[in-house]
Amino acid sequence: MTTAIPRAFPQDFLFGAATAAFQIEGAAHEDGRRDSIWDAFCRVPGAVINADNGDVACDHYHRYGADVALMKELGLQTYRFSTSWSRVRPDGGAVNLKGVDFYKRLVDELLGADILPWLTLYHWDLPQALQEKGGWANRDTADLFTEYALTMHDALGDRVNVWTTLNEPWCSSFLSYTAGLHAPGHYSVEEGVLAAHHLLLGHGQAVRELRARDESLRLGITLNLTVAEPVDESDPADVDAARRIDGQFNRWFLDPIFRAQYPVDIVEDIREVDAGAIAAWEAAVRPGDLEAIATPIDTLGVNYYHGEYVGGHEPVNPPIGGDAPTDRPGRSPFPSHEGIYWHERGLPRTPMHWEVQPEGLTTLLERVWDEYAQPAGTVLYVTENGAAYDDELVVEGDVKRVHDADRVEFLRGHLGAILDAAEAGVDVRGYFYWSLLDNFEWAWGYEKRFGIVRVDYDTQERTPKDSALEYSRIIGARAIDL
Ligand code: NOJ
Repeated sequence: MTTAIPRAFPQDFLFGAATAAFQIEGAAHEDGRRDSIWDAFCRVPGAVINADNGDVACDHYHRYGADVALMKELGLQTYRFSTSWSRVRPDGGAVNLKGVDFYKRLVDELLGADILPWLTLYHWDLPQALQEKGGWANRDTADLFTEYALTMHDALGDRVNVWTTLNEPWCSSFLSYTAGLHAPGHYSVEEGVLAAHHLLLGHGQAVRELRARDESLRLGITLNLTVAEPVDESDPADVDAARRIDGQFNRWFLDPIFRAQYPVDIVEDIREVDAGAIAAWEAAVRPGDLEAIATPIDTLGVNYYHGEYVGGHEPVNPPIGGDAPTDRPGRSPFPSHEGIYWHERGLPRTPMHWEVQPEGLTTLLERVWDEYAQPAGTVLYVTENGAAYDDELVVEGDVKRVHDADRVEFLRGHLGAILDAAEAGVDVRGYFYWSLLDNFEWAWGYEKRFGIVRVDYDTQERTPKDSALEYSRIIGARAIDL
């Protein structure tokens, strides 16, 4: 047997896990909470597998104490969670104190356990009342988001130092308003580009206001970023396919945040397919918006799951699709998608059909660091990374176990990829596994399990999987390859 050389993490590197309000809290009709767009979307026939919903989820609203104790047992140093706008300002406006109190209790519990609270203000659960006024396609939503951010700061500003405005705005714009796959399930390029702009505007305004209140806050945003690789680098059609994916996925968000500009090549691509959408968007981008969006941030959260291997020609062996799990039709989330094809490159895939490619994370971190974060003085955190596998619960004696060897390997591989990036000079300061618990995986309902802790949805019993035990060991040693 060969013994590998342990690879240590930098001293200030934080190990954590992530969740989101709608995916774990449940208590959907309690203490004044009202519908979010996801409650409404779950009722649309065919929108979510098995017509699952967030009514109970992991019942975290009632079990947060035990869940925090479990985090402590695993040795987590930080916990990334989101607050639910529909619990805190149920109609988007007036404050619901009972909702606010829940987050005070949760944060106190975390602080008592010596776990750093990493708060995300928006993880996709817009109050339905605001959707009825146009949702993120309506500019007013950006102003209301800013007010909601300040409400949370009023309540928690003395105890929470790290604030993330938005989680994955690509999903809450293009996947939601253009592809129809996420709430509110619309199929409009115009709404997609408007939503993306208003989300970014809400982000920038909130950062500006929070910073004005307290300079010591650490403020940032989390983006889902990818590495778009052309099948053949010498084929212009393949290179162009990769450029368009990179532009619509990564640069559409990174460029305004870090450079106060939208990528011109993509604006022109979208104009070609929907001139009306771009005209509406041009009218929506008002003087001063880009300056607000580019308000400096301290932290950029990178969510990485997989890359994109694309070309401009139809593949001989197309990959098995995995993005439209339900009966409702899905459209492309990319406004400019004609002539882009995904190819198979023989990498292992998870049951989501997502490729497993840890090196992609190294490439991504290096690129984002060099081109965007470093010049702006922003540091990086991997705020999500994880995998769904078809876990099996086994009973050994009187102990329950989940031997999720694939996830253990996934975890080690991606932590290794982060160390590779750090060794190459990238300032990446933490990792949050997605997710602490199995939970509501959006359109996939409860069918896909990402947790390092298994949740039995009948009994709400939590069982740490082998991956949780391994993660705990890694955190204890602050090293991999032990
Ligand atoms: C990203 C999202 O932020 C999270 O809500 C989701 O469950 C994971 N990806 C896995 O798909």
